[in-house]
Amino acid sequence: MFTMKTRRLRAALSALILCAASCLAAGFAAAQMRDDRAIERRIDALLARMTVEEKVGQLNLVGRQDELPLALLRAGKVGGAMNYIDPREIAAVRKAARESRLKIPPIMGLDAVHGIATYFPLPLGQAASWNLPLIEEASNWVGREAAAMGIDWTFAPMVDVTRDPRWGRTLEGAGEDPFLGARIAEARVRGYQTAGLAASVKHFVGYGAPEGGRDYNSAWIPTEQLFDIYLPPFEAALKAGSMTVMAAFHALNGMPATGSRALLTDLLRKRYGFRGFVVSDFDSIGELTLHGIAKDRAEAARKALLAGVDMDMFGGAYMETLPGEVRAGRIPTRVLDEAVRRILRVKLKLGLFEKPDVDPKKTEAALRTPAARDAARRMARESIILLKNAGDILPVGAGVKSIAVIGALARHEEDRVWTDPAGIPRKETQTLLAAIEERAKGAVVRYAKGVDACGVRYEERESALEIARQSDLVIAMLGEDCEWMGEGASRTTLDLPGVQPDLLRDLVATGKPVALVLATGRPLVLTWANAHVAAILQTFHAGTEGRTAIAEILFGEVSPSAKTTMSFPRSVGQLPLSYDVLPTGRPQKIRQRYESIYLDEANEPLFPFGFGLSFTRFAYANLSLSQSRAGRADTVSVSVDVKNIGERAGQEIVELYVRQPVASRSRPIRQLKGFAKVSLAPGETRRVSIPLPAASLGFHDETGRYAVEPGRFDIYVGGSLAADLTAALEVSP
Ligand code: NOJ
Repeated sequence: MFTMKTRRLRAALSALILCAASCLAAGFAAAQMRDDRAIERRIDALLARMTVEEKVGQLNLVGRQDELPLALLRAGKVGGAMNYIDPREIAAVRKAARESRLKIPPIMGLDAVHGIATYFPLPLGQAASWNLPLIEEASNWVGREAAAMGIDWTFAPMVDVTRDPRWGRTLEGAGEDPFLGARIAEARVRGYQTAGLAASVKHFVGYGAPEGGRDYNSAWIPTEQLFDIYLPPFEAALKAGSMTVMAAFHALNGMPATGSRALLTDLLRKRYGFRGFVVSDFDSIGELTLHGIAKDRAEAARKALLAGVDMDMFGGAYMETLPGEVRAGRIPTRVLDEAVRRILRVKLKLGLFEKPDVDPKKTEAALRTPAARDAARRMARESIILLKNAGDILPVGAGVKSIAVIGALARHEEDRVWTDPAGIPRKETQTLLAAIEERAKGAVVRYAKGVDACGVRYEERESALEIARQSDLVIAMLGEDCEWMGEGASRTTLDLPGVQPDLLRDLVATGKPVALVLATGRPLVLTWANAHVAAILQTFHAGTEGRTAIAEILFGEVSPSAKTTMSFPRSVGQLPLSYDVLPTGRPQKIRQRYESIYLDEANEPLFPFGFGLSFTRFAYANLSLSQSRAGRADTVSVSVDVKNIGERAGQEIVELYVRQPVASRSRPIRQLKGFAKVSLAPGETRRVSIPLPAASLGFHDETGRYAVEPGRFDIYVGGSLAADLTAALEVSP
C-alpha cells in the first residue's frame, strides 16, 4: 500500500524526470540549431572561396581505378571516392585532398550492404527474421567494420518494395510489404548511422517494380500505389535521418528518375523535407542520353542537376560539362551552389573535416571480432525459413544412422555475398558439411557434390546417387550462386538453375527422404520440390555464420522462427504476386471460368507472405482491443494470448492485419499493420500487445492526398496471413 506521502513523492519525482527529459530535449534542440547555423556559416565561407571547377568537383564521385586519382584530388576536383577498401589507399586519397587549395575532405563510399568482413545474411534473409533490433544490430556491425576501414558512407539500405522475384535484386530488399519494409528501412538506417556512416537510401523510387521483372526496365506505378506501397519505406528511412538518397536508374511513368524534378525536388525535398544530398546511380546521368531525354552529355548533366541530383556517381558527366554550362548561363550559379551546400552539409555533419585517418594497423583487429560473429550467428539463425517439414523429419532424429550430404554448396568455405566490392578473402565460414559432421554423432556422414556450385554441371553425380541410396536421410544444399542472383540477374524461369532440378528428381527417385537446403537470392518456384521432398529450409545466403546456423537448425539446437516476406509463386505466370490484393467482383468460389482464376494454376502462392514453420507450435486466444471505437489520433492496443503448445522453446512472429470492408475505393483484402516477435518456453503463454495507430489506416488517392476514412476496420491476428482471430474497430469521422 502506498501512503499519500509516497504517492506525492512519486508524482513529484516523475514530474521532475519528465521536466528533466523535456528540458534536456529542448537543450539538445537549441544546441542542434546552433550547430546547424555554424555549419551553414562554414559552408557560406567555403562557397565564397570556391571556383566553379572546385564547386563542380564536389559533385564528382570517382570510382576506384588502378591509379589513385591524386592529381584530381589535389586540384579539388573530387567530392567523393567509392569502392576503396584498403585503409592505406583511403589515407592516400584523403591526404591528396588535404593538399588541395581548400582541403575539403572527400566522402568515401562503399556498397556495405550486408557485410564487409563479417557477412550477415542477405538483406532479404535478414528481413525474414522480422526482428528489428537484430536487423539494426546487423547494419550497425556492417557500419562499424566499414568505418574501421575508413569508409564514411554506404550505398544502403535498398528499400525497394519488390513483388516480382524475376528481378535479381530482390535479395537486397525486404520483400513485398510496405509496412514491414518501412520498419526495416528505419532499423537499417539507424544501424548504419549510429556506426558513424551516412546511409544512402535507394533507389528513389519504384526501381523494384520493373516491367517483366527485368532489371533497369521502366516501371509504371499509379500515384495511389506509389504512395501506399513504394514510398513508405523511403519516408521511414528519411524520418530515421538517412543523410543521402540514391536516385534510381530506371524511368518511372515515362520519366527517368535521374532527370525527374517531380521526384527529386517536389516530392523528396519539398514534400518530405529532405536536406541531405542525392547521388545518382552508376553513370545514370550519362545514361539520360540513352533514355532519350537528352541529346548529349551536357544536356543530361543539366537536366540531372536541375532535377535535383547533387552528386554524379562515376560517370564524370558533371565534371566534364557543368563548368561550361554554368559559364554559359544555362545553369544558374545558385543551383550549383545549392548542390555543393548539400554535399558539404553532409560532410560537416559527419565531421569529415576533423576526422583523423584510420590507422591501417588497427583495422584488422576491428574486423570479424567474436562479437560481430556472434551477431552474425544470431542473425543467421533467425533468417532461415522452414517451408516444409513432412512428418517432422527435422530436426534430424536419433534414428538417422546415415546421412548423405549433396551439393558443392555444402562444402563451400565462402558464403555467396552481395555485393562483394571489398574482395576481402572470406575463408572463415564453416562448411555445412563440417557443421553437420560436428553434430551427427553416431551417424555416418557421406558427401558427394552431385553438381558444381553454379548448378550448371554434374560432378560426382553417380556417387551422389549411390550415397543417397545408402543413407537414411539426404541433405541436399542447392540454389543460386555464381551469376544467378543480384543486379542484372533477372530470370524468366525460377526453377533451380542448371541441372539441379534433374539431380533433385534423381535424389527423390532413390526413395530416401530429402531435406532440401536452399541458398538462393529470391523465392524460387518450388512447386515440384514441395510435392516431393520431405523438408525445405530456405536459407537465402546466410553469411559468415550461416552454414553453422543451418546445421544448428537441422539438428534442433535452434528452432526456426523466420517467416517469408515475399510470396513464393507456384508458377512464374502468377507474377507479380503479393498478398495485399484488392477484392474482385468475380472472386474464386468453385473455380470455374468467369471467376477470377487461372485455368491451369491455383491463384494462391505456394507459400504466402508471412509463412514459416517451427519445431514447436503456437496457439492464439483472447484477442482484445483497448478500445472498440477510435478517433484518428488514437492508438489502439491490440492484445492476444500466444501460447507455445509444443515441446520445444521457440520464437513466434505475431502478425496483425487489417481490412476496411467498405470505403470510397476498393481496399486490400488484408494489410499488415503491426507485428511482434516473442520467445516462449514450452507451455508458456504471453499476452502480446501491438500498437495500432488509427492514423495508419488510411490510403492515398490519385493526387497523393492521404486520408483515413471513418468506418469499420476488421482486425486479424495470428501466426500467418490466414490469421483468423478477429475483432472490429470503428474509426469515428
Ligand atoms: C549500381 C547499383 O544500382 C547501386 O545500388 C550501387 O550502389 C552502385 N551500382 C554502386 O556499386
